[in-house]
Formats: sequence, structure tokens, C-alpha cells
Amino acid sequence: SLIIITRKKELIQYVDEQKEKRKSIGFVPTMGALHDGHASLIRQSVSENDCTIVSIFVNPKQFSIHEDLANYPRTFQSDSELCNKCKATVLFAPTAEEMYSLNFKTEVKVTGLTEVLCGAFRPGHFDGVSTVLAVLINLTQANKLYLGQKDFQQVQVIKKMTADLLFRTQILTCPTVREKDGLALSSRNRYLSPEGRRKAVAIPKALALVAKAFLAGERSVNKLDELCLTELKNEKLIPQYLEFRLISDITQKCEDTLSAESVLAIAQFIEIDGSKTRLIDNIVLGND
Ligand code: PAJ
Repeated sequence: SLIIITRKKELIQYVDEQKEKRKSIGFVPTMGALHDGHASLIRQSVSENDCTIVSIFVNPKQFSIHEDLANYPRTFQSDSELCNKCKATVLFAPTAEEMYSLNFKTEVKVTGLTEVLCGAFRPGHFDGVSTVLAVLINLTQANKLYLGQKDFQQVQVIKKMTADLLFRTQILTCPTVREKDGLALSSRNRYLSPEGRRKAVAIPKALALVAKAFLAGERSVNKLDELCLTELKNEKLIPQYLEFRLISDITQKCEDTLSAESVLAIAQFIEIDGSKTRLIDNIVLGND
């Protein structure tokens, strides 16, 4: 059954034992408030590795002062039950003080691709993500690391970091898990009021419309963009960003006509009675 570890030293000892036994290690980093999206990553890891380490750590370094660090949902009891049910081997749940020693001075920063899309609106966010993952990858010595496609830019950033720094952990991407009506599962969905929840469905609906038009042969960026915006506007939604970018290099916007594999990425605030929830989603528009 699930081993819960809160200390780095204990995790290192566990990892060393597994390495001695030549066991493969899969790693699923999370911030808790686990849902079926997280579960799909854990199950994937369990199916591909001898042991699976799940981390739950609400990483202060990736939240800006205006963001929801203090209010981020914390549901440790049900999280550990889910990890157990998914047959994870270890749950690593350190405190912030345990994670970052008092005199922690290092920052890992991937340039370029962290400055667009979410990075343009959340300065420093991806530096916090890459820094914590550099530490966690070194701690877990994982053979494979599992990330969700929902946070598409995060995947690109971490792939770049591991490639540049020659980390030998393989980065795997798992598909976005959605509710029946298409809304991507997110720990932040619980903040939505019933009305907000209804409005939020416009996001996957708009993306699905684009996917459908793309499949039918539409390649005009303007036309696809307009299709998406119109659908959102029906619910009085104006996205923070809505952008078509090249998968091979997300710093490049798609011009005029989609010709190479692209991603349509969106960030949308859902605002009800003064409270705001920021949701992101994306779809890949494969090239034929
Ligand atoms: P968190 O938001 O908890 O997400 C943990 C992992 O679950 C990420 O790889 C994310 O992409 C994935 N995930 C979330 N919703 C998903 C969905 N609907 N379908 C599939 N996968 C989904 O992302 C983070 O935490 C943090 O930035 C972290 C990587 C842990 C670093 O602190």
C-alpha cells in the first residue's frame, strides 16, 4: 500500500533502494486537489514503471503575489486515497520549508518560450515551475515524468529544460481529461459557481468548433480565430489570450494559413459576482 513521505532525506533513501534493485521509477508531480486528470497520469505511470512516485506540493515559487496560493484547494485525505486506489507506490508531500532549504538561492529559467501565452501574463510563473521540477527530478531520479497536455506550455518548458540541462528523465505527455460536456478537469473548476460552470463550457465548445472546421479543411487563421471568438462571445466571454502557435516552436505565431502542426491555446477568466477563475485549455491542430 501507499508509502507517505514528507522528508527529502527519506525520499532519497527510498529512491536509492529502488535504484539498487534496478527498479524503474515513474514520477507524477502535482499540487494536490487531485481529480481524474491527475489519476490518468498516475495510472499511466503505474502501467509503465516498477514504482510510481506522486508528489503533492503547492509550490509558492510559481504563484505571484496576486494569485491564489493561500486559497489553493488542499484535500490531502482524498488525495492520498486516490493515489492508493491508482496503485502509486509513494506519495511525497513536503512542506515549503522542507522543500526549499532556508538559504535556497537557485532559479532555473527557460528563456523565450516562457515569455509568450501564459508566461506573458504570469511573469515568473514558469521559472517557479522549472525550478521546483529541477529539484523534484533530482530527488526522484525518475526514468519517466508524466505531464498533462492541458498545461501545454508547461510541457514545452520542461522538455526544453531537461533537453538543455541533459536531465536523463524522459518527459511524457498525457491527453487532457475532460468532463462529459468537454470542460477540461482542473483543480480550479471547484471555484466556479453553477452559472460560471455553465459559461465555462463555451471554452471546449469553441475549441471543438475550430477542430471541426479544421478537419473540414479550413486553414485560414483569421476564419478559425473568428469562429472561436464568436462562440465565446455568445456567452459574453472575451479570452485573455487566444492564439495559434507552431508546436515546433511556440514563440512563433501562425500567420495567415495553418501549414505546420499547430496549437490553439486559450486562457479565459470566468467572472461571476466579482470572483474570477482563470481557466486554460488547448487543442492541437495536426497537419495532414
Ligand atoms: P497541477 O495543476 O496539480 O497538475 C499536475 C499535473 O496534472 C500536470 O502535469 C497537469 O498538466 C496535469 N493535469 C491537470 N489537469 C489535467 C487534465 N484535465 N487532464 C490531464 N492532465 C491534467 O501543473 C502543476 O500542478 C504544477 O505546475 C507542477 C507540474 C506540479 C509543478 O509545481
